[in-house]
Amino acid sequence: MSDTIRAPKGLAGVIADDTRISKVNPATNSLIYRGYAVQDLCEHCAFEEVAYLLTKGSLPTAEQLAEFTAKEKSYRNLSDNLLAVIQLLPKGAHPMDAVRTAVSVLGMEDDRTWDSSPETNDDKFLRMLAAIPSAVAAYYRHVSGQEYIAPAEDLGFSANFFHMCFGEVPSEEVVKAFDASMILYAEHSFNASTFTGRVITSTTSDIYSSIVGAIGALKGPLHGGANEQVMHMLKEVGEKAKAKGWLLDALASKRKIMGFGHRVYRNGDSRVPTMRSYMHKVADATNNRKWVEISDALEETMIAEKGIHPNLDFPAGPAYYMMGFEIEMFTPIFVMSRITGWSAHVMEQASANKLIRPLSEYVGPDQRKVTPIGERVCDVAE
Ligand SMILES: CC(C)(COP(=O)(O)OP(=O)(O)OC[C@H]1O[C@@H](n2cnc3c(N)ncnc32)[C@H](O)[C@@H]1OP(=O)(O)O)[C@@H](O)C(=O)NCCC(=O)NCCS
Repeated sequence: MSDTIRAPKGLAGVIADDTRISKVNPATNSLIYRGYAVQDLCEHCAFEEVAYLLTKGSLPTAEQLAEFTAKEKSYRNLSDNLLAVIQLLPKGAHPMDAVRTAVSVLGMEDDRTWDSSPETNDDKFLRMLAAIPSAVAAYYRHVSGQEYIAPAEDLGFSANFFHMCFGEVPSEEVVKAFDASMILYAEHSFNASTFTGRVITSTTSDIYSSIVGAIGALKGPLHGGANEQVMHMLKEVGEKAKAKGWLLDALASKRKIMGFGHRVYRNGDSRVPTMRSYMHKVADATNNRKWVEISDALEETMIAEKGIHPNLDFPAGPAYYMMGFEIEMFTPIFVMSRITGWSAHVMEQASANKLIRPLSEYVGPDQRKVTPIGERVCDVAE
């Protein structure tokens, strides 16, 4: 077939479409959202401003932000129905499965299923942005046998999440570190979950379905699930003195070291220095340097041995742990942030849509005849 193109495995290095939302530039080691460097956004903006920027294309004025946050706050309460569903979910399930279910129910409660106009999609996005943290916190409270805490209208996005999980809001430094992580996790071009969302949107399915699919993709340890695996690894290492030996053993047994490596960045993830500095601030605020010290030792050895640098999950995982979150909540927290980038991509895909449908090269057996069942011998798969 002369008009087909053979893409490399994993679509590595393939540009699949244009986007105006973000640019990951490994050459300059930078990441911009709609033209703004993420570091600049972390320094000057709250997550809500970045959510507005990603989905609407420009930073909000004070008035626009007030309107946006007022609406976001008004959508934080879960329906009685959704809260009841969450409280009926098995306690042993992974919280990512609970979030996936919650978004699915949110979609079923919205009777505008087939209305994917930009205005309606924007409103559906805001509903998810506001309700996902409530669902994550509700499931956490359910699993830990505690009463559900309703959202507080007088708190910003990040402070309110702490309030719903723990019934209290930590120091300003800790809330800011969490908020910065929300900004850093918000968007990263055509990663696996975003691309999943765009594929679903390309069939003209609804935004809730796209987000449910994206959540499924994010759950995998090679993608969003890595932030949880990082913390499991740090706990397995246990102490700074054992870090180097542990890593050398792990590499010798060909183990993938979680929180290291990246498909696009080859010389370090541009988001790491910012998140690392916030991780240090959380360590200071919580008077706990243990995880920072183990992390530093692992990073030093990994770079020296393999030349592979950490990705955002490496500092984010221990930062969340020191903030008091259960390890299994780390990837759902990622969802609370990435809902912004996903939604922006869904809307961009819908605005200039073409069904995403690649080809495959068939490498199975040649065409053959069906043998009647009584005459068949065991057909071992080739
Ligand atoms: C992110 C990731 C999937 C990128 O994978 P990729 O672009 O397909 O690159 P590869 O897996 O082919 O890695 C290339 C080489 O580096 C090695 N490598 C990459 N990441 C590694 C890691 N975290 N630990 C050990 N070796 C690693 C691979 O073993 C491979 O070595 P080889 O050529 O000798 O076989 C990969 O780095 C990884 O699995 N990292 C750990 C999970 C993680 O942190 N995910 C979050 C990403 S933001």
